[in-house]
Amino acid sequence: MSEIPGNKPLETEFYYPPEKTTKNANIKEYDSLYRHSIENREKFWAERAEKLSWFTKWDKVLDESNPPFYKWFTGGKINIVHNAVDRHLTNWRRNKIAVIWEGEPGDTRIFSYHELNREISKLGNVLKSMGVKKGDIVTIYMPQIPELLISMLACAKIGAAHSVVYGGFSVEALAGRIEDANSKVLLTADGGYRRGKITDLKSIANEAMKRSATIETCITVKRTGHEVVMENDRDFWYHDMMSLPIASPVCETEKTDAEDMLFVLYTSGTTGKPKGIVHTHGGYSVYTSTTHEFVFDIKDEDRWWCAADPGWITGHSYIIYGPLINGSTIVMYEGAPNHPYPNRWWQMIEKYGVSILYTSPTAIRGLMRFGEAWPNRHDLSSLRLLGSVGEPINPEAWKWYSRVIGKNNCPIMDTWWQTETGGFMITPLPITPLKPGSATKPFFGIEIGVVDDAGNEVKTGEEGKLVLKKPWPGMARTIHKDPDRFVETYWKDFKKQGWYKTGDSARMDKDGYVWIIGRIDDVIKVSGYRLGTAEIESALVSHPAISEAAAITVPDELRGNAIHAYAILRNGFTGSKQLEEEVRKHVSHEIGPIAKPDSVTFVETLPKTRSGKIMRRVLKARAMGLDEGDLTTLEE
Ligand code: WTA
Repeated sequence: MSEIPGNKPLETEFYYPPEKTTKNANIKEYDSLYRHSIENREKFWAERAEKLSWFTKWDKVLDESNPPFYKWFTGGKINIVHNAVDRHLTNWRRNKIAVIWEGEPGDTRIFSYHELNREISKLGNVLKSMGVKKGDIVTIYMPQIPELLISMLACAKIGAAHSVVYGGFSVEALAGRIEDANSKVLLTADGGYRRGKITDLKSIANEAMKRSATIETCITVKRTGHEVVMENDRDFWYHDMMSLPIASPVCETEKTDAEDMLFVLYTSGTTGKPKGIVHTHGGYSVYTSTTHEFVFDIKDEDRWWCAADPGWITGHSYIIYGPLINGSTIVMYEGAPNHPYPNRWWQMIEKYGVSILYTSPTAIRGLMRFGEAWPNRHDLSSLRLLGSVGEPINPEAWKWYSRVIGKNNCPIMDTWWQTETGGFMITPLPITPLKPGSATKPFFGIEIGVVDDAGNEVKTGEEGKLVLKKPWPGMARTIHKDPDRFVETYWKDFKKQGWYKTGDSARMDKDGYVWIIGRIDDVIKVSGYRLGTAEIESALVSHPAISEAAAITVPDELRGNAIHAYAILRNGFTGSKQLEEEVRKHVSHEIGPIAKPDSVTFVETLPKTRSGKIMRRVLKARAMGLDEGDLTTLEE
């Protein structure tokens, strides 16, 4: 379990939203609407679903006949792209800016909804001509460029599912995901820009395609123009394909079922390989658009900037789908926040008049380190709301964000949620009195509990397991190809009650405010990125010198957590600084730089239970110089 870095939160410290915010808020009151949403759950969600455009209306709002495989809006036909793009083309939003994109070198591209639709349709036709059809999963591995978003929407438009692999992941992470999804088509780019350097995505993609041989066609966007290896008959340039006659800008949107798969997004679990979380067209559309509209008080004149990467759930739900369904203008930026100088983000906010910024505590802490002078050089007065996600935000960072960026005028929406939940679960609204470090209260229609192992509510202020008690439209439907693991992972511990286990621990204070403490399983959060100790350990032991390994995290001021690894060497190898460096690089090459351990310690043995499970808790206590706790299960 991670501790909140920074100063200690104060439960009695309230921050009240400014009057201009509460006066103009879309939602003016929480308690009664919350009660209504709980007492009339299906009615509440049906009313929200009515706001979207359906090809055929649903028969049933919620099908609970086979828990935990809940279905929403069954019998309904809807396509998320029809809502995120097509329906805006029939009114004034046709010429509204959909996407403002800026590359790290400073190049910009802007798309109206009309222009975005043309790109999506063209690519949709290209994909169809390659035989991509409903039921297929297309893997997308790109830097943060407009083609990433266009690719996702093109897949969804023609009824295929996408699996986006974060551009910061590397060979094994990509290969494993391609294989699990059995993708025949890969959309990638030659590279992207990060801190002035080129990331060589195509070489990683080539290596991954060697390891998992399912890809028949690879389409590559030319972003950086550096030399890359293209294979005859398999590799095509994106721009070549998009200029073929087949790439017509008119493409029919597939009339998908509400429960048809929209995407798979691989995320780290407690054990084994990352699991493919499945989301669908109907419920996910309703949930992402409603949460985005209510929590961030979306108005047509907003310029919305979610500074995440589309390769994670935050990007899927709140760079792309939720905001586009709401007809928002979204801002996207390719590169690092401190390139070439630490004012890059503040410059962007000023230049584009961003009104809402949504980012992670790690990014805030990182920018905070450079001091106030950088943001103070810029006019940030267009901002009216701020957001945070991915890890607990320490009060010090919260207050800096509020004071220096928000000028004490922008409430901070600290949104707690997960890949599996599809959208915000515990979150303030712009009208909520805030406590720095607390995600406050459950969203409409969401019932939560902070409980002990038996499912009893723990006392006020005590730590317990966070559970979700009732289904919601944005919930994950299953784990791709592994429904048993879906049941096992989330629904087994509280089977009797039918609750979803989040894997997080939390406290609830006397005002009913929720304080997320952190993960209580072997999922780890580093810089807000979700990883699993299992993946890191499997990358460690794939190095020829290592026979066994354990990965743990220790609290880190900047990144929330830092990874430390312990490894037992194979016969014939001796530990050295050089070998440590090599092993760290190896993990980075296999999974990605975000998974690179801060240190690798070579050890003779690892603390294990008698049944052979590594006791990471003991390693962690030792690393932090803390009491090792109960050691009765420790093997001699
Ligand atoms: C953590 C990210 C505290 C939590 C959207 C959760 C948070 C995990 C917050 C899911 C928050 C997310 N405060 N912790 N506001 N938001 N988390 O799937 O541990 O990448 O279980 O989804 O992030 O990570 P995931």
